Amino acid sequence: MHVHRQEKIWMAFGLALLVVFAAVITTSAIVDGFVPPSRVQSIDPTKVAQTPPFDHPGLRKVADRAYEAYYVARVFSFAPAEIRVPAGSRVTFYVTSADVEHGFSIPATGVNTMVTPGWVSSVAHVFKERGTFLLVCNEYCGAGHHMMAAKVVVE
Ligand code: CUA
Repeated sequence: MHVHRQEKIWMAFGLALLVVFAAVITTSAIVDGFVPPSRVQSIDPTKVAQTPPFDHPGLRKVADRAYEAYYVARVFSFAPAEIRVPAGSRVTFYVTSADVEHGFSIPATGVNTMVTPGWVSSVAHVFKERGTFLLVCNEYCGAGHHMMAAKVVVE
């Protein structure tokens, strides 16, 4: 089979780029300790209901207008189903899954993370505006995926 010279040049260029990309990812993983984003600690996914603080999911006040919210995702709901915080609050979300891969997303905010069994994902957001924010699962997780949602009420 004859491969045109210019085609060979482009194939070599493409392969060289793959090598560069792999080198960048490997270097950042080893030198800078990069891990998959937002997974802060591991947890036994079969013991979520017995593992504090996920044995009592919900909102904790840590300071004036600063909260931590612990969520358990499971097919097809989030616990807690609703939290209420005053406007201007910074909420740090900690989420884990008791079964399969889920998503954790509040559209139009920076809150968007995967929820992987065995890991605790964390993301924080300052809710400046009042309103009711829908928290949705944005990873397909089964027949009831489209029903899987919760509410964040900023008052
Ligand atoms: Cu949980 Cu989709």
